[in-house]
Amino acid sequence: MRRAVAVCLVCLFICATCFYSMTEVFAASVPTQFNGETWYDTAGNVIDCHNQSFIKVGNTYYMFGVIRRNETQTYDNFFRGVNCYSSTDLVNWTFERTVLTADDINAGLANPRVWVAGRPKVIYNDLTQQYVMYFKCRPKDKGSDRKFALSTSSTVDGPYTFQGRHLPTGGGFGDSTLFKDDDGTAYVIYSNLQGGTRTTRIDQLSNDYLSVSHNVAVINKREAPNVFKKDGIYYLITSGASGWSPNQAKYYTATSMAGPWSAAKNFGNATTYHSQSSDVIVVQGTSKTSYIFCGDRWDSSYLGNSTHVWLPIKFNGSNIYIDWYERFNIDTQTGEWSQAEPGIKYECESLATNVSAGDSESDLTDSNCSNGAFNKFIGNALNDYVEFTVNVAAAGTYTVRVGGKSGRARGVYQMSIDGTDQGERVDLHGNGNTYPVANLGQVTFASPGSKTFRFTIVDQNPSSTGYTLSLDYIALYP
Ligand code: GLA
Repeated sequence: MRRAVAVCLVCLFICATCFYSMTEVFAASVPTQFNGETWYDTAGNVIDCHNQSFIKVGNTYYMFGVIRRNETQTYDNFFRGVNCYSSTDLVNWTFERTVLTADDINAGLANPRVWVAGRPKVIYNDLTQQYVMYFKCRPKDKGSDRKFALSTSSTVDGPYTFQGRHLPTGGGFGDSTLFKDDDGTAYVIYSNLQGGTRTTRIDQLSNDYLSVSHNVAVINKREAPNVFKKDGIYYLITSGASGWSPNQAKYYTATSMAGPWSAAKNFGNATTYHSQSSDVIVVQGTSKTSYIFCGDRWDSSYLGNSTHVWLPIKFNGSNIYIDWYERFNIDTQTGEWSQAEPGIKYECESLATNVSAGDSESDLTDSNCSNGAFNKFIGNALNDYVEFTVNVAAAGTYTVRVGGKSGRARGVYQMSIDGTDQGERVDLHGNGNTYPVANLGQVTFASPGSKTFRFTIVDQNPSSTGYTLSLDYIALYP
């Protein structure tokens, strides 16, 4: 009897341990924030961190990037500072601090300047036990004075001490990254212009990483470089040069940072899923190491509205590729990534509609829209509306996202579900046509059945010429 109890207790203990570790593993697999959307930190503030780069210390990932938001909410590319955020799951990010500001660069200068800067990257030097940050930095009014800003800190989250601007071996310093190899040797990889010739150069750093030692390789002119290493192969991902507009990323491979580097191979689609490479996160877990491509999706009308695109890198031998996902699950404990639960999509062109008196709607084709079509509502005043009937199959809590099409004559809408406002107002005005997706937050349906999603015109952008809404789809994410 006693023995049976003991056996039972042991079984219970084993079951409980299994269950505990299983739940732990599952709990750690979380969907990433949606690509191409504004991301928020754990305090509810917009994450202002562009040209994101990453370093892992213990179990914490630190993310660095430049500030792009400004008071006028209009375009400028001036340097305000480098922000640092931290996370253990790569999804929930806590703002640590602005680790370096433009004032730090101006300190000691007789004439403070406006700086244009970007692509901060931090690596740790084991010999000096310092974190070292490099980023490209030039005065706004002197396009040829392209150097890298050097700064250091004894703690990863700063503050960082500015240590001057310097030239690498090749002179003129453009887009750049740092890469620390397994043996501690570190490199700066940067786009370079010399005597009218543009290249991408790889320079080895001194042992303390505080200066550039010597050049080890020169390859084709590319921008936005970043490097990672897997199974003895170095991968260098780059973009082409087209300003803030996205283009086809290409990558090179080598078995040594000194090369020889392979010919360039395409990576992603013609616009790299509308992004420009900024870094690769190495997610080393207990069962696997995953590599996540991170890119900037620039909004050149106001850089502060730029968003991010993260996609898991897939391997085929030494070939790498990415496929589009709105988001995916990542488990920083195991290192595994997986496909996230897809949203249930309701195409606006297929839903039953109803519009305010005197207004009209029609379904139009557009190959950029989901299912190749969208619904166009033409209102002519504030408070006009279009509504769609969505038949929700199951009760539950969903994240609501709405795919729209921007244009010159679009209005600002407020969406409501069965009479209750849902999420923020959305301005669909734009000079060209883009396809923004609005995240309108979570809704709970106590029962399944027909729900009325109404889009009411509540405002008009001063630059807009009308009260039109082009709506592509409504998606519910369980
Ligand atoms: C390139 C760079 C960006 C930015 C823009 C400005 O695309 O990669 O970081 O400097 O040019 O046009």
